[in-house]
Amino acid sequence: MTHDYEAYLAAQPLHYTRTTSPMGNVRIQDNTPFDNPVTNAGAALGRIIFYDVRLSANNTVSCASCHAQEHGFTDPKAFSVGFEGGLTGRHSMSLSNAAYYRNGKFFWDERAGSLEEQVLMPIQDAVEMGMNLFDLEVKLGLTSFYPSLFDQAFGDEAITSDRISLALAQFIRSMVSYQSKYDQAIVSGTLNEPAFASVFTEQEQLGHRLFSGFPGGERSSVGCVACHQTASHAMDQAHVNGIDANTQEADQGAGGGFFKSPSLRNIEVGAPYMHDGRFATLEEVVEFYNSGIQRHPNLSPDLTTSGRVGGRPIQLGLSEEEKAALVAFLKTLTDDTLLTSPLFSDPYTLMTTEE
Ligand code: HEC
Ligand code: HEC
Repeated sequence: MTHDYEAYLAAQPLHYTRTTSPMGNVRIQDNTPFDNPVTNAGAALGRIIFYDVRLSANNTVSCASCHAQEHGFTDPKAFSVGFEGGLTGRHSMSLSNAAYYRNGKFFWDERAGSLEEQVLMPIQDAVEMGMNLFDLEVKLGLTSFYPSLFDQAFGDEAITSDRISLALAQFIRSMVSYQSKYDQAIVSGTLNEPAFASVFTEQEQLGHRLFSGFPGGERSSVGCVACHQTASHAMDQAHVNGIDANTQEADQGAGGGFFKSPSLRNIEVGAPYMHDGRFATLEEVVEFYNSGIQRHPNLSPDLTTSGRVGGRPIQLGLSEEEKAALVAFLKTLTDDTLLTSPLFSDPYTLMTTEE
């Protein structure tokens, strides 16, 4: 049985594919390079590699050990456990909609210049998987199934780290989330109010208004969408959201306190939150934006009262009802199809029936 990743991606709705979508242009966020488009054979190979414990030096850890499908491909632990029991320095990142980050940089601190570059880094990381790429090529070549899978994906049986990288990146870029309740509420690519109201509860609609910061909306319209953008809910670029004051102990991220956030798709199942997993619940996240933003010289203008970089942090003063509504809205971004689809599930448990 082969999985049709190309058909899955081709079925994205208008609010993802239309460049003039009222929610913003998702296409322009796509970081797929012209020389590594998602193909069925490439993504299928990427899936087998992603779930393979052979990627770690002692055959104990796969990518999925820290990026679990049912959690939107992140880890319920604040810090993940590597192949020898060591802990990662930051929280694992959700991979939902990883394709939609325009500058194509990866990690909380954007230290990987592309997804193709990123995917080989955990393999070689001393805490995470502890492998070297040459040994990995040899190890995969010794199996009965990899040579023919590389042949199908790349035209001959050569197993190279370059091809491992291409296949893993294809698999991750196919993890697009477009079948949440939020998507069902958008009919024909636009936010048509009657249709929207028939799918969303009153509470979810209020949460959506607060998240979107509609011009002329209510006083405490917060505009999360200034940074978590478009229907893909991916970021536009790294920001300082005032999670920490400017102290030496604080993780500086990409420098100066700037951090990338993964897409908020499937955030409900992606706890704990932020680069260090400091918040256990979405209620805590919302309370942080409501009353806990710290002063920081690089604080984003969108989170200051003056609208100037480093200005005084906003105090939203949300009511309990409004906070609950924001949380309810965030939960409409849960996409059960992505979280359960066999396209993205562990192939090894099924291998005998599938091949
Ligand atoms: C031991 C746990 C662990 C393993 C194994 C692991 N990861 Fe991760 N992954 C993390 C952590 C932690 C981060 C965030 C690290 C940081 O930003 O400093 C991360 C970040 C990422 C990101 C960045 C996402 C973004 O939006 O920027 C990608 C992509 C990713 N991992 C893919 C993989 C792949 C592919 C594999 C297997 C080859 C893998 N990971 C193996 C823990 C792990
Ligand atoms: C100025 C840009 C900006 C605005 C506005 C903003 N955020 Fe964020 N958000 C960030 C950044 C940056 C991070 C990652 C910070 C970190 O981990 O250090 C983040 C992280 C998050 C996370 C955690 C993501 C994860 O995978 O752990 C959630 C949830 C979130 N934001 C929700 C919201 C909500 C709700 C609002 C509106 C009340 C909002 N954000 C407004 C920049 C912003």
